[in-house]
Amino acid sequence: MAISFFFFLLLLCSSKNSYGFQPKTTIIETKDLPRVHTLQTTSLLPSTVCKSSSKAISEKSLIKIVNKHGPCSGLSQDKANIVPSHAEILRQDQARADSIHSMLSSNSLEKTSLQDKPGISIGTGKYQVGIGFGLPNTKLSLVFDTASQLTWTQCQPCSVYCYDQKEPIFNPLKSSSYVGIRCPSATCNRISSEGMQKGCSTKSACIYGVTYTNTTFSVGFLAQETISLTSSDVFQGFVFGCGQRNRFPNGGRAAGVLGLGRGWFSIISQTSNKYHKVFSYCLPSSEASAGYLKFGDGNLPSSIKFTPMSKLFEGTNYYGLDIVDIGVGGERLSIDRSVFSSSGTVIDSASLITRLPPAAYSRVRRSFVAKMTNYPTAPKFENLGTCYDFSGNSTVEMPTITLYFDGGVEMPIDARGILYFNKISQACLAFAKNNEDDDVMIVGNFQQKGYEVVYDEANGRVGFAAGACS
Ligand SMILES: *[C@@H]1O[C@H](CO)[C@@H](O)[C@H](O)[C@H]1NC(C)=O
Ligand SMILES: *[C@@H]1O[C@H](CO)[C@@H](O)[C@H](O)[C@H]1NC(C)=O
Repeated sequence: MAISFFFFLLLLCSSKNSYGFQPKTTIIETKDLPRVHTLQTTSLLPSTVCKSSSKAISEKSLIKIVNKHGPCSGLSQDKANIVPSHAEILRQDQARADSIHSMLSSNSLEKTSLQDKPGISIGTGKYQVGIGFGLPNTKLSLVFDTASQLTWTQCQPCSVYCYDQKEPIFNPLKSSSYVGIRCPSATCNRISSEGMQKGCSTKSACIYGVTYTNTTFSVGFLAQETISLTSSDVFQGFVFGCGQRNRFPNGGRAAGVLGLGRGWFSIISQTSNKYHKVFSYCLPSSEASAGYLKFGDGNLPSSIKFTPMSKLFEGTNYYGLDIVDIGVGGERLSIDRSVFSSSGTVIDSASLITRLPPAAYSRVRRSFVAKMTNYPTAPKFENLGTCYDFSGNSTVEMPTITLYFDGGVEMPIDARGILYFNKISQACLAFAKNNEDDDVMIVGNFQQKGYEVVYDEANGRVGFAAGACS
């Protein structure tokens, strides 16, 4: 079945225009948390200049993370890089949350391998990193994703279809270190055991298929290549997907995906001898600065606080942790712990807005609204139901919001991670409500801004360090 499916896919279905592939502020150590943040409304408008002073740009050992639509991506002058509306971004983010919820529904946790279910939506594809492929190496921009495992890039000759990307498409013939994976082979078999689609070409090349949604996927040859994370950090024999049929409409012209999930194909698993399954990233708190990604446990910030990784998500691609309470305006809400334990919580690099269990959302909302009575309200915006009109105000004073994790870890959310600005006259509390009590809570990247977040799978913990990014 799989063989004929991919044969069809690669050789027969060459219509280039169809979507014929139809697969299925700082950590406060004292107890006195600040109660309010004050921001100038003008500082909340998008910036057009990339701040060159950031740590991400000056330190050579760090892999730079850029927001694909921000001034640091080098794409802002690029006409082909169409910036989606805020409404479209929130819809893309909702699609990711829905796909995570469907993959992690309690039923599937008990009964089936999660990866047998339809794929995870890539969401807004907002953050990209540059990784070198091959010898000599070609730098490629990849969307990085902590909830998917296979790294792939578009590859020449693009037998079926490649989309338009920022850099030249990788050409394996020009690399001395490219090695195709044969089939059958143990590595090829892992494609299906890790929940992706496997095939075998007429010339016994191993074929993979990875599906995010019906409009976002990559199919091609499984291969090994030398990758250069930084100029001094080179890793040989990395198993990746050399995509011959690819679609990635939200990718911002990225060359593919960097999979940082927990499965066998993840770069984290493949480099475990070297980096011991530890990586961290820092997402910039402003669109106008760059963040960074780094591998290994060297140089972790001293201010870091660790919370245990949740056992609930072992055997999945997701990194879980346990949230125990939320604070608004310097006061803990004392939300019943069962509200969080019945949903479970994952932290995700590619989800934007944090999703709360319904009972927690209504408590946060009520408390936030009570502290924002000095501002006129605005209509709801997409899935964000608590909005304000700041057009008459030069400064905005808003209550702080703090996430409390197991192990006594407090994470006060950055001032820029609280309100999502569609425009000055419509700024909304940047938290969304899950539909069901048992839908998993998702800590999104909007709320992770300004923190170095450390994923330490080896020691089963997730760490947060405030103020480590700049
Ligand atoms: C993809 O799926 C969505 C909803 O599931 C559907 O509305 C849309 O028509 C599908 N697109 C294609 C190209 O099949
Ligand atoms: C914000 O502006 C509105 C409209 O001008 C005004 O009614 C409100 O009092 C202002 N709020 C603050 C805190 O200045």
